[in-house]
Amino acid sequence: MQVFSFFFSLILCFTLISSESLKNDKRALLDFLSHFTLPLHRWNQSSPTCHQWTGVTCRQNRIVSVRLPGVGLNGLIQPLTITRLSSLKILSLRSNQLTGELPCDFINLKNLTRLYLQHNRLSGPLPPIFSELKNLKVLDLSNNGFNGSIPSSLSGLTRLRVLNLANNSFSGEIPDLDLPNLRHINLSNNKLTGTIPKSLQRFQDSAFSGNNVTRKENHHKSPFGLSQLAFLLILSAACVLGVSGLSCIIMATCLWKTRIYGKLRKRDSSSSLSSPLGNWTPRDDDAEEGGKIIFFGGRNHLFDLDDLLSSSAEVLGKGAFGTTYKVTMEDMSAVVVKRLKEVVVGRREFEEQMEITGMIRHENVAELKAYYYSKDDKLAVYSYYSQGSLFEMLHGNRETYDRVPLDWDTRLRIATGAARGLATIHERDNGKFIHGNIKSSNIFLDSQCYGCIGDVGLTTIMRSLPTCGYHAPEITDTRRSTQSSDVYSFGVVLLELLSGKSPASPAVSETKDGGNMDLASWIRNVVVEEWTGEVFDMEILNESGGFKEEMVEMMQIGLACVAVKQQERPHMDQVVKMIQDIRSTDLSE
Ligand SMILES: *[C@@H]1O[C@H](CO)[C@@H](O)[C@H](O)[C@H]1NC(C)=O
Ligand SMILES: *[C@@H]1O[C@H](CO)[C@@H](O)[C@H](O)[C@H]1NC(C)=O
Ligand SMILES: *[C@@H]1O[C@H](CO)[C@@H](O)[C@H](O)[C@H]1NC(C)=O
Ligand SMILES: *[C@@H]1O[C@H](CO)[C@@H](O)[C@H](O)[C@H]1NC(C)=O
Ligand SMILES: *[C@@H]1O[C@H](CO)[C@@H](O)[C@H](O)[C@H]1NC(C)=O
Ligand SMILES: *[C@@H]1O[C@H](CO)[C@@H](O)[C@H](O)[C@H]1NC(C)=O
Repeated sequence: MQVFSFFFSLILCFTLISSESLKNDKRALLDFLSHFTLPLHRWNQSSPTCHQWTGVTCRQNRIVSVRLPGVGLNGLIQPLTITRLSSLKILSLRSNQLTGELPCDFINLKNLTRLYLQHNRLSGPLPPIFSELKNLKVLDLSNNGFNGSIPSSLSGLTRLRVLNLANNSFSGEIPDLDLPNLRHINLSNNKLTGTIPKSLQRFQDSAFSGNNVTRKENHHKSPFGLSQLAFLLILSAACVLGVSGLSCIIMATCLWKTRIYGKLRKRDSSSSLSSPLGNWTPRDDDAEEGGKIIFFGGRNHLFDLDDLLSSSAEVLGKGAFGTTYKVTMEDMSAVVVKRLKEVVVGRREFEEQMEITGMIRHENVAELKAYYYSKDDKLAVYSYYSQGSLFEMLHGNRETYDRVPLDWDTRLRIATGAARGLATIHERDNGKFIHGNIKSSNIFLDSQCYGCIGDVGLTTIMRSLPTCGYHAPEITDTRRSTQSSDVYSFGVVLLELLSGKSPASPAVSETKDGGNMDLASWIRNVVVEEWTGEVFDMEILNESGGFKEEMVEMMQIGLACVAVKQQERPHMDQVVKMIQDIRSTDLSE
């Protein structure tokens, strides 16, 4: 009994202490804010800090992250206000109008991992605090008026991955920053002089542009200290050993591909701050289970699980595979995160499938950037396409004035890209790889409006049927997708592109005699009865270009793909060729 009450009072005591510290944290935050004349931001003092204050997240009754980007904070950061949040891990006050120096009591934020103060009007030299902020992974002080020299104490930040000091007035020489984990640095547009130190030679010139610095001439050595010839030999050997030279080149280009920047949305500063992904925390034992995020290609990945969880996420959709989020990082780059439900395979099979998928590098295939596997959660991280999906382009805003018609040229381009992407996918895994869920909402538009195939690699690990309206007739029986059922689904997409009709929509099934019909059957019928003109979307039919012949050709390709008998459907390679021929024959005439 005594033991029990001892424990009880211990627990009670602990609870009291932690709620006391939350109260202190809350007071510190309010003190911090009280020095600004906030036009946009006021927290409701009587509502719970951890759950209802925009931009504030807690863990174990302490505030661990404060994100107030672009809320109009103007003036000085008062010392001993926000820095009293001793458990703070993430602080983002970017894109405000903060002025004055960075207070040296930031040294108290020993647990800080990310500090985002870019796009303010902070000035003066940096205080000597960095030797103490050993947990920093991201430091972004860009676009301010900081001056003085870049402190060499930054060298002690062994976990630092991102350092952005661009667009300030830093002067003097660049210190030799020996930061093994550094993946991204930008010191451009300062007043730096001298040579780029050896430790930073591996970064591109653009990271140092807008300064008066030089690169030590170093023609004979590759970044790895090998002679260029040896380096080339190793590289080409690797290429021969790898899948093929071509895919090596494709991979190399992809490795340098610029990251996709999501649009900065108006509501970014308020509503999407609270992160639905953030409500989910990986359990501590995940680390022991090996539940860590795996990246592909040794690229400059600028995020980790921590980033994903702490970034603002927006639900893009909920589907058979689970929930899809758009996650916008602090640097405004965006990725798509799929939280997979009902994964039916074990860890090994999951990893194998993800590894094969991750190796696919093609401009028309949405890149699988990373994956995560633990007992409770499985994530797949893909590139984000800001232009949206073909489905949205074709069927979005149909009945409104906002609709921007999708012209024939663009449709042809989408078909070309998507066909190339799917053909590439089919080549993988020794020519056995299957997509399993081709549909217009899984085809995205890149910046040149070519179609890119998304959701790659998920079908074989999930319990799900292909989407209604797109699935080949044989699939309802066996539930097993094949490459030829992919071709069928792709054919449906081509017909959808031509007709502007959604395969799943009820309007499609209306027939003269009131029967039910899917898009493919409907078009087949229409063609047999020779009212081909009725197939085409009014949006493209009204175009003045006289592309009707091209459209009819495309329709024939689509119909070949949706052949009822599997053996009559073409291979994706042939489909690519046929689609490419549509325009080239046209030009040669
Ligand atoms: C503040 O929150 C309380 C309780 O959550 C609510 O009753 C009150 O109306 C809110 N005040 C304002 C100004 O929103
Ligand atoms: C900082 O983090 C460590 C480990 O995560 C934790 O043990 C410590 O309590 C934290 N410090 C504060 C002041 O919260
Ligand atoms: C830095 O800027 C401040 C004004 O913001 C100025 O007083 C100071 O002399 C500058 N220091 C250097 C080293 O340029
Ligand atoms: C520096 O400023 C220029 C001009 O305002 C801007 O285009 C550039 O993106 C800035 N650089 C960084 C790294 O923020
Ligand atoms: C650094 O920022 C400048 C603009 O300030 C930009 O042009 C350059 O591409 C950036 N370099 C890197 C490596 O990010
Ligand atoms: C750049 O630095 C060199 C010496 O390092 C100096 O001679 C030269 O005048 C500087 N150029 C500019 C434009 O400041």
